[in-house]
Amino acid sequence: MRHLLFLHLLGASVWVGGHLVLLFGVLPRAMRKRDPQPVRNFEQIYERIGIPALLVQIGSGLWMASLWLPYAEWLGDSPVAHLVQAKLVLLGFTALLGVHARLALIPKLDAQRLPQLGLHIVLITLTAVAFVWVGAGFRFGGLW
Ligand code: HEM
Repeated sequence: MRHLLFLHLLGASVWVGGHLVLLFGVLPRAMRKRDPQPVRNFEQIYERIGIPALLVQIGSGLWMASLWLPYAEWLGDSPVAHLVQAKLVLLGFTALLGVHARLALIPKLDAQRLPQLGLHIVLITLTAVAFVWVGAGFRFGGLW
């Protein structure tokens, strides 16, 4: 369990840290210059470490969740089940945002679509931070 949690925290650092750098470091510069290129450059470098980190989160997360609760109880009504459900909803949202970015946004990225890209980056970063909030809930027995 300790090794799983270690991997999970390492992956969380990469995923959340990378998106915070993108939101607060790279995006403002792109908006100021009205040029999506800095975001594109960042994505190109970050992708190679961000996607493996997300896969680590999913693998270690599902595994740890199965240690907290047997699969049959994941859809139940207990506080821990609610945390697992919240993680799964956030994962679904992350996947939707990712697919939308990859298929709809990034291929046609130009200065006009920058605000849309900005909203997208805000949403994925908020989702990443929410993952951490929900994750911390396991230790404290609930979402709040
Ligand atoms: C990018 C996505 C994710 C991030 C950033 C993230 C982040 C975190 C963090 C910071 C913790 C707190 C660990 C602690 O108690 O010290 C945590 C715990 C946890 N996460 Fe995630 N998580 C992510 C995805 C997932 C997914 C997809 C699942 C699958 C259900 C999951 C399941 C869990 C479980 C079961 C714990 C409790 C671990 C424990 O303390 O025993 N996580 N997560």
